[in-house]
Amino acid sequence: MGAQGDKSNDLAKETKQVTKDARLTTDYGVKQTTADDWLRVVSEDKIGPALLEDPFARERIMRFDHERIPERVVHARGTGAFGTFRVFESAEDVTFAPVLTDTSRETPVFVRFSTVLGSRGSADTVRDVRGFAVKFYTQEGNWDIVGNNIPVFFIQDAIKFPDVIHAAKPEPQNEVPQAQTAHNNFWDFQFNHTEATHMFMWGMSDRAIPRSYRMMQGFGVNTFTLLNAKGERHFVKFTWTPELGVHSLVWDEALKLAGQDPDFHRKDLGEAIENGAYPKWKFGIQVIPEADEHKFDFDILDATKIWPEDLIPIRYIGELELNRNVDEFFTQTEQIAFCTSHVVPGIGFSNDPLLQGRNFSYFDTQLSRLGVNFQELPINRPVCPVMNFNRDGAMRHTISRGTVNYWPNRFDANPPATAQEGGYIEYAEKVAGIKARARSAKFKEHFAQAQLFWNSMSKVEKNHILNALAFELDHCEDPVVYERMVQRLADIDLGLAQSVAEMVGGEAPKEAPRPNHGRKTINLTQTDFPG
Ligand code: HEM
Repeated sequence: MGAQGDKSNDLAKETKQVTKDARLTTDYGVKQTTADDWLRVVSEDKIGPALLEDPFARERIMRFDHERIPERVVHARGTGAFGTFRVFESAEDVTFAPVLTDTSRETPVFVRFSTVLGSRGSADTVRDVRGFAVKFYTQEGNWDIVGNNIPVFFIQDAIKFPDVIHAAKPEPQNEVPQAQTAHNNFWDFQFNHTEATHMFMWGMSDRAIPRSYRMMQGFGVNTFTLLNAKGERHFVKFTWTPELGVHSLVWDEALKLAGQDPDFHRKDLGEAIENGAYPKWKFGIQVIPEADEHKFDFDILDATKIWPEDLIPIRYIGELELNRNVDEFFTQTEQIAFCTSHVVPGIGFSNDPLLQGRNFSYFDTQLSRLGVNFQELPINRPVCPVMNFNRDGAMRHTISRGTVNYWPNRFDANPPATAQEGGYIEYAEKVAGIKARARSAKFKEHFAQAQLFWNSMSKVEKNHILNALAFELDHCEDPVVYERMVQRLADIDLGLAQSVAEMVGGEAPKEAPRPNHGRKTINLTQTDFPG
């Protein structure tokens, strides 16, 4: 196992080993004679009140009182495991990042799978998107691919993230429903945001009720960039494909399991690893040379669009294996902090407006979830040395030996690294323009890939989608929400809309509406650019 796993393991052993000779101590190391009785006032005929003086009892209660930290604002319910990543084909034509070029390397990883909407104690098998977040502990620093099991997203611009999540989480007045999408606000949002059409079709498909975490694909979703040794840049999307194939539950199974065995997915993963049936995924990249950015009829920086594989084939270059369960859930799975802005030299960002917002959001939310020194937790520490003058803050425990805490200094011992020494080089992208709140023209087309998705489904898969839509829309109490959504379905396919109307018992549309039919006009755009 890689260094990261060993490191956190050792730390756990240092503090909490239960052995025959071990004795209970306080957190400050004093052995306790009992953990059963609070210190009391005892007289001849009476055992009197408990004394606040008892430091041992107070410590136990005080530590218990503060056990909970805020759960993640999204993706609160999850499970994780350690593993390894190897490349079997070097991608040196497109990147100089050794994690993607050095075929002799084994990079330790931690992966956390999750649902998005439910709280920490919610059931595993609900209909929802699944998170698929990978932290690579590379020799050049930590690299995170914070992905999902669905290749597209609800929104194009991160500014809309609070809205889509508020609308999908339990409603504010009564916290209903928990971990389900069937409610007025969710579908109201979908209607008002035509850009969400492609994603909600994936959400109504079997992809949103996976059989196992071991049987899901993973997608980085956003467009990143790769830089090669010649200084050439390519746009890239990342994909994980499971060795066991992609499999789903059927809706009845998902519902029953949610009641009978809410830990179904976390147990499935843990038991498979425990029994040596290590799950594996192939790692693939889709790359587009910088010069070809505008050659497609969709914008390649739009996270609501896939890059069709017949246009941009997936090149499989590596393999991920999960082979070790966590030692302790809270310390590792709960406290791991992924961030899309964690990239290593040879890998960079694009102008995808969803990605740029995510790069701000993860670090920011971790400040309130874990505190400013979350990078020092063993699970978040890189395996390569860290040297800088960031310091102090709540819970800081790294001791920076030395007499200076600024740079440059009189010792001049640590000048920044050059590119040759592995320093991170930003690609010199030419940027000029005016300030405006804008999307490219191609960002405004919202139905073509939803239609592509629907048309690519088999009869059985179509039936599952119809049933899912009928189930969901039947649970919308507000008829306006249901009626408008049926209209929206007609934007994808008239037959689809008519079938759902027939199943739910509402009025069926007679003809396919014009694009954006019936949508309230929300004009976010001041300036249109040719795409
Ligand atoms: C958490 C994926 C969009 C904000 C997560 C996690 C995943 C994920 C997998 C769970 C990480 C873990 O296991 O700890 C995605 C994908 C997105 C997306 C694939 C779309 C491409 C966004 C956007 C924002 C955002 C647009 C905000 C602008 C967050 C936050 C968390 C989170 C705040 C909680 C992180 C924590 O508490 O550690 N996301 N997300 N996400 N995401 Fe996203």
